[in-house]
Amino acid sequence: MKAYLLDSAVARYVSEHTTAPDALLDALERETAEVAGDDATMQISFDQGRFLTMITQLMAPQVAVEVGTFTGYSSVCIARGLSGGTLHCFDVSEKWTSVARRYWQEAGVADRVTLTIGPAADTLAAFDQPIDLAFLDADKQNYPVYYELLMDRLRPGGLILADNTLRRGWVADPAHDEPTTVQMRQFNDLVMEDPRVTVLTLPVADGMTMIRKS
Ligand SMILES: C[S@@+](CC[C@H](N)C(=O)[O-])C[C@H]1O[C@@H](n2cnc3c(N)ncnc32)[C@H](O)[C@@H]1O
Repeated sequence: MKAYLLDSAVARYVSEHTTAPDALLDALERETAEVAGDDATMQISFDQGRFLTMITQLMAPQVAVEVGTFTGYSSVCIARGLSGGTLHCFDVSEKWTSVARRYWQEAGVADRVTLTIGPAADTLAAFDQPIDLAFLDADKQNYPVYYELLMDRLRPGGLILADNTLRRGWVADPAHDEPTTVQMRQFNDLVMEDPRVTVLTLPVADGMTMIRKS
């Protein structure tokens, strides 16, 4: 579990009191570690996956969107929560998403997932369906671009979930001025200043922000 913001005893307790992932998600985590090496840290953690499935079940979206699919962990979790809708995934990498495609088949959700390969600033701009739920987890410097594209398409009452918004807590420490942390601070401020939305920043994993359009 990614518990950058909790001490180890609390992190263990949270982990022990969150329903564990099944064998398929465990296998996907293992395979991602093997094929992606250090990049495997890009994968969301199992508690975030549990959160995504529950939010999807609660919202029952007809149109869900994921920006940043990688090897498929978060998309499997969202797709499993769907009841009749479709998850539209956007990623730039054929290599990583070829793993995701295989796990969508194995999880029995391939019929409710689409994948568009290319820079998401372009592919999202070409997406013309009203969105109910979006998960944002791609390149951090483009979060503001993706945010505006998603907001244009988000129906009133729709929700954007943005990952990595606390950067291990570094956003709260002015001494941290590396580019990604500065970009994430700017994104968090942009969202907070947007009168169209209500915002809840959750100290889950690396920080996940819930952004609801009024
Ligand atoms: C943090 S990973 C996503 C992790 C994934 N949500 C999971 O749970 O496994 C970020 C992904 O964004 C993709 N990405 C990076 N730049 C992109 C861009 N310009 N357009 C679309 N996808 C991009 C990468 O290929 C990578 O798969």
